[in-house]
Amino acid sequence: MFGSLLFLLVASTAVTVALPAPNLPHGSSDDALFHILKGRGILGPISTGSPAGISGGQVASGAPPLSSFFAGLKAPYPTNTWWASYAASPGNGTAAGPFPYESALHNNGVVYGISGNREFDGTSIKQPTQIDWCTSFSEHQGDFANHKATGFDTQAVTVQYFQDAATMTAYLVPGSPYMTFEYFGATPLLTSMNGGIKSFNGQTLEVGGSASITDTEFSVLDSGGSTYLIYALSSITLKATAVSSSSGTIQASGAFSGVLRIVKLADPNHKDLLDQHYQVYPTAVTLDYTLTDTSGTLIFDWTTVGDGSNLLMLTYPHHRIKLQDPNFPDTSALGYLTTKGWMYPAVGSKWSMLYDLTSITWDAPRALDSSCSDAVLQGLEYEVGQLDVSKAPIPGDFYYWGGTLAAQGRLALIAENLDRSDLVTPVIDYLKASFAYWFDSSSSTVPAYETAWGGVINKAGATNVYVDFGNGYYNDHHFHYGYFLSVAAIIAKFDGSWLNEHKEFINWFARDIINPSPEDPFFPVTRCRDWFAGHSWASGIANGAGSRDQESTGEAVNGYYGALLWASVALSTDYINYAKLLLATEQHGAQVYWHLYPQDDPAGRDNPYPEADLRALTTIGNVEDWQSGAWLFWGDQKTEIAAIQILPVIPVNEVLYDTQWVENMWSYTMPELVDPTIGDEWKAVIINAYSNAHPQVAAEWSANLTAWGSGQTFTNELYFIGTRPNPSNAPICGSLPQNPYGSFQIQLDSNGNYVAASSVDTNLKASATSTSSAATFSSAYVPNSGTLQLVSTSQFVTAGQTGDAALAAGAAVASTWERFTIRQKNGAASGVYSIKATSNGLYITVGADGALINNGANEASSAGFKFVPV
Ligand SMILES: *[C@@H]1O[C@H](CO)[C@@H](O)[C@H](O)[C@H]1NC(C)=O
Ligand SMILES: *[C@@H]1O[C@H](CO)[C@@H](O)[C@H](O)[C@H]1NC(C)=O
Repeated sequence: MFGSLLFLLVASTAVTVALPAPNLPHGSSDDALFHILKGRGILGPISTGSPAGISGGQVASGAPPLSSFFAGLKAPYPTNTWWASYAASPGNGTAAGPFPYESALHNNGVVYGISGNREFDGTSIKQPTQIDWCTSFSEHQGDFANHKATGFDTQAVTVQYFQDAATMTAYLVPGSPYMTFEYFGATPLLTSMNGGIKSFNGQTLEVGGSASITDTEFSVLDSGGSTYLIYALSSITLKATAVSSSSGTIQASGAFSGVLRIVKLADPNHKDLLDQHYQVYPTAVTLDYTLTDTSGTLIFDWTTVGDGSNLLMLTYPHHRIKLQDPNFPDTSALGYLTTKGWMYPAVGSKWSMLYDLTSITWDAPRALDSSCSDAVLQGLEYEVGQLDVSKAPIPGDFYYWGGTLAAQGRLALIAENLDRSDLVTPVIDYLKASFAYWFDSSSSTVPAYETAWGGVINKAGATNVYVDFGNGYYNDHHFHYGYFLSVAAIIAKFDGSWLNEHKEFINWFARDIINPSPEDPFFPVTRCRDWFAGHSWASGIANGAGSRDQESTGEAVNGYYGALLWASVALSTDYINYAKLLLATEQHGAQVYWHLYPQDDPAGRDNPYPEADLRALTTIGNVEDWQSGAWLFWGDQKTEIAAIQILPVIPVNEVLYDTQWVENMWSYTMPELVDPTIGDEWKAVIINAYSNAHPQVAAEWSANLTAWGSGQTFTNELYFIGTRPNPSNAPICGSLPQNPYGSFQIQLDSNGNYVAASSVDTNLKASATSTSSAATFSSAYVPNSGTLQLVSTSQFVTAGQTGDAALAAGAAVASTWERFTIRQKNGAASGVYSIKATSNGLYITVGADGALINNGANEASSAGFKFVPV
């Protein structure tokens, strides 16, 4: 029934034919500028409808872009791009790019350099910013407002410094080994920023000395030890002056109209290749792609001046792994070590990178192993039964609301997959009841359209970066809206009229993170994705867009998974495939830069982390602009660092949880996996990833979990385990241990006493010497555990919170303190059980007075109990 409804929804959605978009950048009003950048994608906009009618209305960011920088252009503007610090106030922060360079825009020119220093501090590799040169022109008077962006695309930005008619235009294109400056009627001026000038074209300069040379190639050595080559595309006279021991200048003899290309010579052996290719320069890059249902080719097509086939660019490891028919010079011909590993050369103006696209969408790609069916269904019935529509949550933020509701939404998908449509409706009703608050302008938390940059934000965060992890400052949008889109897609899958009613609203969120087209007047192109870096960034415009980071690849992948689900119900095949391309590239980026492989060859061409001691840490927590390391902003447990790269557990992550990595990560986190003080919610995620390679072992471990966190459920945990590849064909779930369920008297194995409790004395004591004075308890199912209810009073047994009080039958309602895991006790006779309070993870011991207390650290310390059915 639901299957055919889905088919109708998709069939009735108009198919958008891929359109070549025009080449104009957003609102470029100055066509007289010589280079208009392209931002073309093959897909047209998802929609061009205005989000002005969104429930929270329109707001303006408390940190708007610098109007002088975007003079002549208009919003939407990119917020998570490498050059966001050029645009975000104060506009002079250091930008991580155009790699291999880092740069900043100063009052009178562009400063840049390449880090010559790589450190490993035991946790992170770091390459501190090094600024080597400032490139400017002597007519510029140093007014900060006298530079602006003249265009940008999905990777590159063009910045122009101007003074009257004199201009210097910098083509800032990631991957170019040369910094490129085009002058019109301006006198080039280079200022050394990393020491004084030691020599110019081999001529040693004493302090105060100078040398003047007319040529097209120059080299300069600074006192910091860096050599730069300066290529002029037409002959120029440059005069180098060693102003002091710590400063120097190189100035042209007069106004120049032409191009300078400036490059760090990291090794004298690199000069040959640089000499051969400096004459062809890139000004922009067109992002393109060809998509089928099963593969996507990502294409970078640089616009060049000169013969594009001679364009020299630099690759990162993930490019080299995916490039088709590459023209790679030898790695010894050129290379720069960055935090993403060595950048090595490639020749040609077009790169094609091939990715497999997933065929997985809603469910796992194979049936649930029959050995797991009963346990999954039991959990499903229980967890769906917990969803009370009248208590559907009122959203207080995007992040926690989304993570929780998306996990509950998966229950509907699993129910459908297991032919339990009776369990679908209660979930959908619950999701709808909660989702309805987003549409209501009187809700306390509402989305608004932010007009200064262009995007949908949590309204309360427009001027407060502390709201919702900086959502209003464009942090974490792919995390937040991925969950949001997943929830919406799940509702829409089962309710076509809800979809029709709310499609435009939900599309605003899809457009916020996966808009493919510069023709969308309201949203930038694929906000979080850094196409050259090969992954997304979570950081937006906070702190002057200072150092970007991403510390949850799992949630980044989920961002594009949410978009994939939404596209599957609401958009055409083109957008489905575009979401799949985003998903595949994000997963690959996570595997290359976040997963660590101690097995890798330290000198391997595509190994981003030569440091064996870093790779021994098995997982990067945070990739940042100039450092990457095994740490998080919020926690330092091994299981936390790995788990945040795994969660949420969704069917498409079969690809992400690769065998080598999960095995490395499993051994590395083992000390914490067996540590009872570490939370089950982290272990649950680790166990799920491990199940991708070892489902039977994972199933065994999963049976001990009693908490899954708000972003995971028992049902999804075991469903995922039970749908893994299973080459051995052995039953995955085997015989999973369970509590004894039913009505029992509980007998202490050591002395034969029975447990007593009553309305008079609610404490549980093993004091009854006969069945007639024993209490009767009824025990009911909770995933991997159960409740104990004193039949005579209907009160639930509660564990002591501090572990020094007796268990007491004193709770009218069973919640987290009223759960116990009861298992065959290791080494005891068959039918003798240990009992663990799930709330504090401690085992039940029996005191001298017979009181049952949850204070035993390990299973061996648990008293042995028999459960005698009555
Ligand atoms: C950046 O701009 C701010 C504000 O105008 C100023 O205080 C600071 O000195 C500038 N930094 C540099 C490196 O120019
Ligand atoms: C599960 O817990 C039991 C104790 O109740 C322990 O004996 C067993 O080793 C645990 N299993 C795994 C796979 O951790």
